[in-house]
Amino acid sequence: MKRRDVKQNEPSSDNSGGQRSSKSKKKEGTRSPQSQGWLKKGLLALFVILVVVPFSVKMLPELIQHFVYTHRIRLPFFVDLSRPADFSLNHTINMYLTSEEGISLGVWHTVPESRWKEAQGKDLAWYQNTLSDGSPVFIYLHGNTGTRAAPHRVGVAKILSALGYHVLVPDYRGFGDSTGEPTESGLTTDALCVYNWVKERSGNSLVVIWGHSLGTGVVTNTADKLLEQGVVFDGVILEGAVNTVRQNIPPFNPFAWHYWKFPGLGYLYRAPWEDYKFLFPTEENLKKMRSPILFLHSEDDHLVPIEVAQQTYEMAARAQNAERVKLVTFEGSLGYLHNGLYRDPRLPEIIKRFVQSL
Ligand SMILES: *[C@@H]1O[C@H](CO)[C@@H](O)[C@H](O)[C@H]1NC(C)=O
Repeated sequence: MKRRDVKQNEPSSDNSGGQRSSKSKKKEGTRSPQSQGWLKKGLLALFVILVVVPFSVKMLPELIQHFVYTHRIRLPFFVDLSRPADFSLNHTINMYLTSEEGISLGVWHTVPESRWKEAQGKDLAWYQNTLSDGSPVFIYLHGNTGTRAAPHRVGVAKILSALGYHVLVPDYRGFGDSTGEPTESGLTTDALCVYNWVKERSGNSLVVIWGHSLGTGVVTNTADKLLEQGVVFDGVILEGAVNTVRQNIPPFNPFAWHYWKFPGLGYLYRAPWEDYKFLFPTEENLKKMRSPILFLHSEDDHLVPIEVAQQTYEMAARAQNAERVKLVTFEGSLGYLHNGLYRDPRLPEIIKRFVQSL
């Protein structure tokens, strides 16, 4: 999930700190026309959040899709996804893969940073050939909202590339410049498409899959699909992993954050949510998975509480063992929240050690 989520959470946390605002009002004494304006806006916002939105959601279950994925919010705005060099990824090519008929996925492939000079002006064929150069290949499955150009996603690609790895970052269907509309099974199909495409070209190189936020749900769904064919990922990194079972819907589901602070809303929200069959059964999937897994979680994650991460990790470790399943947490005082742990100076070493253990 994106910084935007953090922002949009602010009004609700302000709400819960209602004492603060009432105190300041007392100080003012009289109500100015300005504060009346704010009151009107506040009431209107409440009306929208408590009445219009749930009502619309009940009437139009497809709207759930937009709340869950918020894929139409193409953050950052006004960027050209066909020019990854604009994001100082000068050793990256933009390409399109066909996931299924009529579904084209925009994908960035970044080669190991050590090859940046060599990569200048090279075409798709050159990039594809590099995939078998023996360097580990990462597929990064991002969270909801925004595109592959979002700063925290580019941040991860840069770290991995600097470590000498290839990185492929797709936008799922309906996100960025990819066509189609997102659905849970559609996202799995997209991830499988990228994985299979990579595997056809990566020779004996390690292929590691990194999911962030909603992307962790896509990773485990994809792992489950691959298990049917007896295939396991060489390694899995789950950053800010969501767990829909432990974060019951509502009010703690990370994708229903709009509703966290509005008690009672869950009642209205539940039915269409269930109709939509939005599952992401991370917990069930993790029980079956047989890949080395590294969980990364920030203690101040505001969308997935650290306790949930701890429980998810313990469950996954029990299903395999503590050698193969690891959890690395980042202190809350660092302020990484849900998206920011790519900024941690220790991260490259953590990733490197994980890859070396594979
Ligand atoms: C290209 O990217 C590499 C790696 O990030 C960087 O060291 C280099 O300075 C960049 N070169 C140009 C011309 O921007």
